[in-house]
Amino acid sequence: MNVRVELGARSYDIHIGSGTLGQAGRAIAAAGPGRRALLVTDGHVADNHAPLLASSLHAAGIATQMVVVPPGERSKSLEAAARLYDACIDCGLDRGSWIVALGGGVVGDLAGFVAATFLRGIAFVQVPTTLQAQLDASVGGKVAVDHPRGKNLIGAFHQPRLVWCDVGTLATLPRPELVAGMTEAIKHGLLASPAYYRFMRRQREALLALDPRAMARLVSGSCRIKAAVVASDEREESGARATLNLGHTLGHALEAVAGFGTLRHGEAVAIGLVAAGRLARLRGTWSQRWQAELEALLTEYGLPTRIPGLPLGEILSVMHLDKKARAGQLRWVLPQRPGSVALAADVPVADVQAVLVALGAVA
Ligand SMILES: NC(=O)c1ccc[n+]([C@@H]2O[C@H](COP(=O)([O-])OP(=O)(O)OC[C@H]3O[C@@H](n4cnc5c(N)ncnc54)[C@H](O)[C@@H]3O)[C@@H](O)[C@H]2O)c1
Repeated sequence: MNVRVELGARSYDIHIGSGTLGQAGRAIAAAGPGRRALLVTDGHVADNHAPLLASSLHAAGIATQMVVVPPGERSKSLEAAARLYDACIDCGLDRGSWIVALGGGVVGDLAGFVAATFLRGIAFVQVPTTLQAQLDASVGGKVAVDHPRGKNLIGAFHQPRLVWCDVGTLATLPRPELVAGMTEAIKHGLLASPAYYRFMRRQREALLALDPRAMARLVSGSCRIKAAVVASDEREESGARATLNLGHTLGHALEAVAGFGTLRHGEAVAIGLVAAGRLARLRGTWSQRWQAELEALLTEYGLPTRIPGLPLGEILSVMHLDKKARAGQLRWVLPQRPGSVALAADVPVADVQAVLVALGAVA
């Protein structure tokens, strides 16, 4: 099935299927004239899935070279990007060539950043292989590398020409990574769709068992929600796209303070969702029943709901460095009811501190 991201001349399809990786080459060849590609993947995906994708690109007449980066957040760095620029030059990529990102959000963000900047921008395709990337990171054109002082501080908006999701690739994904990916789906339901939120609650067993139909529904449901938000606010200007940061204000800070890669992105955002709910409780805009349901749902999926003993002061200072801080104030996304959120720039620091300490931050 296809979900269309409507962005005028930059519109593209997200194709969602199961066992479809071998057809990606043909689809990429149909999406643009480029006949040369750099396939970027990581050490965990290279053996499992890259050979099939590389041979399907070759079969479609696209001359492909592969670069394998070390797995993990540390590859989202300027140093890793510099090595990819070398590879782009070595294999003769020109402005008509492709960069194909095969992997999770790390590979997608890194390869997308290189595609956005090499020769002032060349075409790229996302072939996401983690649930997190299929549901979320591969869609919307945000690409970035990290700075030692914060995540995603160096980046661009660069839309892919095509996103090719084969939910079958998730069969090799370690269980904790699969579970971490569920956070973004829960977030999408919370912020935009009560029906999708209910689906997450009712289909938990089928989803965790990787039932192909349930997974395709999961990925397409999330992509539809994200595509609509991105189409309405591509560059995060009107506030609509900022709602996707639900759970991320705290989540990014927890990832940074724990040390990038220690706490998975989805795990950190799960704790961020709990914190956002509790802040909304303090404002009286979110009910105790909804908060209890949210915390129970995250727990049922095996996601954390408490801060693992990290220092409060460091969490607060990283949050303030976060690029979403505007004019010295943090902008929170707070749930109002399942399917609806509001932006709040006036959350008192004392409330934030109280919630963080209650969740386990060390004062
Ligand atoms: N651009 C965006 O809009 C956006 C949105 C959300 C998150 N992100 C970014 O995404 C990153 C997190 O992405 P992630 O959770 O996919 O992590 P990841 O890319 O690090 O992948 C997680 C782990 O799974 C392994 N892996 C990937 N696919 C596999 C497969 N099919 N089989 C076996 N192993 C596999 C990877 O090697 C890695 O060890 C973060 O850097 C985050 O900032 C970006």
